[in-house]
Amino acid sequence: MDLVTEVADRAARRLIRWETEAVRRHTPELPPGPLAPERAQLLSFLLTPGPFLRACRERYGKVVTIRVPGLPPIVQFSDPDAVREVFATGDDVMHAGEANAVLEPFLGAYSVLVLDGARHRSQRRLLLPPFRGDRMRAYGEAMRDITASAIAKWPRAPGGGARFVLQRETQAITLDVILRTVFGMEDGADQDRMRALLARALRILDNPLYIVRTFQKDYGPLSPWGRFLRLRKEIFHEMDALVTRRRREGLGDDILSMLLEATHEDGTPMSSEEIHDELLTLLVAGHETTATGITWALHRLSIHPDVLTRVQAELDERLGKGPIDPDRVRELPYLDAVCKETLRIHPVIPGIGRVLQKPTVVGGHALPAGVAVGCSIYLVHSDPDTWPDPERFDPTRFLDKKPTPYTYFPFGGGLRRCIGEAFALYEMRIVLATILRELEPVAAVTHVREQRRNITITPAGGLPIRMQPRGM
Ligand code: HEM
Repeated sequence: MDLVTEVADRAARRLIRWETEAVRRHTPELPPGPLAPERAQLLSFLLTPGPFLRACRERYGKVVTIRVPGLPPIVQFSDPDAVREVFATGDDVMHAGEANAVLEPFLGAYSVLVLDGARHRSQRRLLLPPFRGDRMRAYGEAMRDITASAIAKWPRAPGGGARFVLQRETQAITLDVILRTVFGMEDGADQDRMRALLARALRILDNPLYIVRTFQKDYGPLSPWGRFLRLRKEIFHEMDALVTRRRREGLGDDILSMLLEATHEDGTPMSSEEIHDELLTLLVAGHETTATGITWALHRLSIHPDVLTRVQAELDERLGKGPIDPDRVRELPYLDAVCKETLRIHPVIPGIGRVLQKPTVVGGHALPAGVAVGCSIYLVHSDPDTWPDPERFDPTRFLDKKPTPYTYFPFGGGLRRCIGEAFALYEMRIVLATILRELEPVAAVTHVREQRRNITITPAGGLPIRMQPRGM
């Protein structure tokens, strides 16, 4: 463990022992948890998520109550049996949209992520068909071609070329993939304009403070939040122009076209507000997450040469020479296992939440209505009771073996399981296969820390890396 992580671990342990009487008196009926001021708990979780969660597990075991400002107390479980109960519970009892409410100012009131009950089900029903496994074929070539033209510009040299920030590059790839496959945008001025607007809006949101309501105040076009709101309006304007063009010139193979054709159960089409909010949701939920998964996978391949050699041998054996045939990435079980093991050891999203609508027993604990129940992906994936030697990166854990949906759930579960799971895993395989046919990642830093960025846990500094041509 490097020095910075050690210091962060120590600080988190101290924080967990810091107790304030006020909080203890506030919710005596909940399972025990850190009693430090709510702001301190939030800061510790945002700045050092790993050490905070590990310290909670060390002191309280597999259930802990965490308190952060602006949210109800979160009773967080990291026991697979409790996770099973949460995923099996209906949306009359547990609301995920309410737990995701902090996202509403960014994504809008129609976003599938922030809705609950019948409205959520109706929106999800419209979004699911374009993400079914059998639709992936339509997106594969775009994923491959976008990756190939992006990596053509990456520096490379035997032993490792110039250092660059990998997350920035993978994010550019996944953003373009969404623009092409979801928005149906081809290269050109429209795509450049949309990409520039989105990049500016997302840069403002990179600051974790804007998750906190206090900072979501519009003090005019010069204030960060005011700038974000104005950019959002411009983005919606571009989306409307795109929809008008699509309707005039004919629908295509993209996800927007499918949404324009879809109807609610009463036969009405999606409104333009619904289209805006869902497009933004797919973009935000789908591009940084997948880019982070790809970045972590390349980090692991850069420090586990035996795994890299095996991936490349599989690519040569199964796909032969020439450009990758996206249809055939399904025939790469070892690369698939590398992606899954990466998402186990580095879950991109550390946990999921649901708000209780009525008193409920979860994991043997009677909990009152109004509290949030969390399932810690981070802690379940690193639990030695389920995953022997959990710190060891070992893709063979996933070869011919399938973990249960309660011991491995990087994409959440139950009624709210990630819509983009098949899309993300397909994209990870195609992007990695395209890169690794040509290049080998070479580690450029000795220690890589985890850092909270928006809703994800990414490598600190975006992972500086070098590349060398294959086989050097
Ligand atoms: C490695 C990449 C990804 C990871 C790790 C990931 C993870 C997750 C997680 C943990 C949830 C919450 C599930 C729950 O509450 O139980 C979620 C929800 C969601 N994800 Fe993903 N995701 C990824 C990629 C994508 C992609 C590519 C898309 C679409 C383009 C997408 C769209 C969504 C949507 C729309 C939801 C909300 C589902 C609902 O509330 O019904 N995600 N994702």
